[in-house]
Amino acid sequence: MNTKTDVDYLFEPRGVAVIGASQNSAKIGYRIVENIVQRGYKGQIYPINPKGGEVLGLKIYPDLSAVEGDVDIAVITIPARLVFDAVKECAAKHVKHLVIITSGFSEVGNVEEERQIVAYAREHGMRVLGPNIFGIYSSAASLDATFGPGGILPGRVAIITQSGALGIAMIGKTAAESLGLSALVSIGNKADIDESDVLEYLARDEATTVIFMYIEGVKHGNRLVGMLKQVTKKKHVIVVKSGRSKRGAMAAASHTGSLAGADEIFDSIMRQCGVLRAESVQEAFNWAHFLADAPLPKGKESVIITNGGGIGVLATDACEKYGVDLYDNQAVLKETFAPVMPSFGSSKNPIDVTGQATAEDYERSLEAMLDNAGMHAAIALYCETALFNTDALGDLLRVEYARYKEKKPIIFSLFGGEKLETIVRTLRAKGVPVFSDVYDGVSCLGALYRSWQHLNAPEEKPEDIPIDVAAVEEILDRARKEKRGFLLANEAQQMAQVLGLSMPRSIVARNLDEAVHAAGEIGYPVVMKVVSKDIIHKSDAGGVALNLENQNEVIDAYQAIMRSCRAYKKDALIEGIEVVEMAKPGVETIIGARQDASFGPIVMFGLGGIYVEVMKDVAFRAAPITKREAHAMVSDIRSYPLLLGVRGEKRKEIDGIVDVAMKLGALIDKCRDITDVEINPLVVYEHGQGVKAVDVRILFQTTREVR
Ligand code: COA
Repeated sequence: MNTKTDVDYLFEPRGVAVIGASQNSAKIGYRIVENIVQRGYKGQIYPINPKGGEVLGLKIYPDLSAVEGDVDIAVITIPARLVFDAVKECAAKHVKHLVIITSGFSEVGNVEEERQIVAYAREHGMRVLGPNIFGIYSSAASLDATFGPGGILPGRVAIITQSGALGIAMIGKTAAESLGLSALVSIGNKADIDESDVLEYLARDEATTVIFMYIEGVKHGNRLVGMLKQVTKKKHVIVVKSGRSKRGAMAAASHTGSLAGADEIFDSIMRQCGVLRAESVQEAFNWAHFLADAPLPKGKESVIITNGGGIGVLATDACEKYGVDLYDNQAVLKETFAPVMPSFGSSKNPIDVTGQATAEDYERSLEAMLDNAGMHAAIALYCETALFNTDALGDLLRVEYARYKEKKPIIFSLFGGEKLETIVRTLRAKGVPVFSDVYDGVSCLGALYRSWQHLNAPEEKPEDIPIDVAAVEEILDRARKEKRGFLLANEAQQMAQVLGLSMPRSIVARNLDEAVHAAGEIGYPVVMKVVSKDIIHKSDAGGVALNLENQNEVIDAYQAIMRSCRAYKKDALIEGIEVVEMAKPGVETIIGARQDASFGPIVMFGLGGIYVEVMKDVAFRAAPITKREAHAMVSDIRSYPLLLGVRGEKRKEIDGIVDVAMKLGALIDKCRDITDVEINPLVVYEHGQGVKAVDVRILFQTTREVR
């Protein structure tokens, strides 16, 4: 029985056709055939070219219909204007996957033809990889159907890349760094198959333990989030996203035809999914190499072993930067290391065996660490000294690495002259995690710990937060009747009630008498705000008065608001004045939710005022969110200590924020007509005293989305 799912055939094809196979070695159509042959692909290879003949000893077929065997992949490498006809031939041959190398589609504005090709392919049971790609490599089939430089080493790291040129360059780089690959997929314009489809296969692929994605823009972020959450429960996933800077984002947008999403959102959501975000391709390679072979740690505490004090301190700094915890039980440290090191060394962590240490001292310290079950990972540092026999160092590290390899993670950092640089290069080529710069090494260990924490985190089923969608739609429909895409104050109040949010008490007064009466009923001090569909920016129009202490102040404020609003907009229809309880002061936060162009429904949290405006201290999560994700979003912001309570202040009502975040997440996920919700401020009181949504703004589509 055939149990292969669709996408499996892309990685494990039984037959591959190359449409545009050429005898001319300068052409891409030749290079691809050459790579397939040289890599030793075991299935059938069918070069296609109307001219016929032979290429690299293989018969060239004039067209697909002349091929007798099954063709699971057709690699298409003919000019754009000829591609659609070739796709039709592929459909007639029941090809499963089209790997369209050809450029000249949506990336240069030829969107329609690309769309038509994909629609046709899908209608005929075919999936499309590309167009505008350099191909695919799969170790499962020993298939290199790319026009890269060849020489890919088989291994455990899978690479998915949106950039072609960078991806091709990565092939050479992986070979230079002896990084073995299980797969390499160029996704280019992602017209059909995207990261999520590829991840779906890689999640099941036993050869793959680490996945590295190079992304420029996210198209179907909602699906990607779901897929990443599953994959990171089994494998390490690393991402490099370009377009971080504003200029970078513009460059990426023009060159791949997909807009780079706002970087902060991307960053937060990757964290939510347990994905490791690297700053650079080099950092990603370092991590991938290390994670592919490193055992998972059994605990959090690392030990630094060094022959130099300075480099030990640098490593300590690096540990803080990358979130690596250091073993700190001084008594055990002394008991473990004092017997194996020179008497003048230091057995505090960093363990400083000193510059006078011999190779034997160094080795004994490493082994003492390996034998201690309470110490979980090692950072072994070496500064070149005249006393240490550097010639023996390479062998010593190789032996130690072999001992550690299955048991505990270890990284080495060597600092010194040419001899050491040679050792670094030689050992790295053999897969030993050795670095010249200690920060590079500790960064790898930090990545392992972050991924490990995510792997270890207990599974959390998303809670279904009930939202009365019918009641929400009813409020929106009433506004829609007036052709409004936003809610007025009293409507927002109703919405808050539907969601069960606590808001300050408020009454809409139609005249001065009612305003005075309302203020008396609510209790002083109060706030007054104009209610008018013609005045959106109430403060700008002089439509808000704060902290009114008594009846006289209410009367004055009422008249002042009316005067200023009339002056601001003569014909504005003023429905009334909202009299609102003045919220007690607390920590002002901002919490919102919206439909994001890349990720769909997302939730946002930050501290209000200058924190959000100047410091941009905000965090995001893809909705709907679990309780733990909501907590993580709140604690992600830099000013989180303010919520925990500083200088003797009490902890704030963090659970209240989490509750609101989950409700907004459920609302924006279930009511896709709502484009934006913003509560600003959400005033947060001390623990046990709740939170208050002082101002709720909701924007939505004026026509109902039919789903
Ligand atoms: N079926 C099979 N072969 C066909 C064909 C068809 N329907 N129509 C033409 N061919 C043959 C041509 O005769 C030629 O063979 P030849 O060398 O024996 O003459 C071969 O296919 C290639 O066609 P050619 O017109 O020479 O095109 P090319 O090789 O110069 O360019 C592409 C084709 C696809 C490489 C080019 O159009 C392109 O898109 N280049 C950019 C690729 C790229 O950068 N991709 C993204 C990387 S990240």
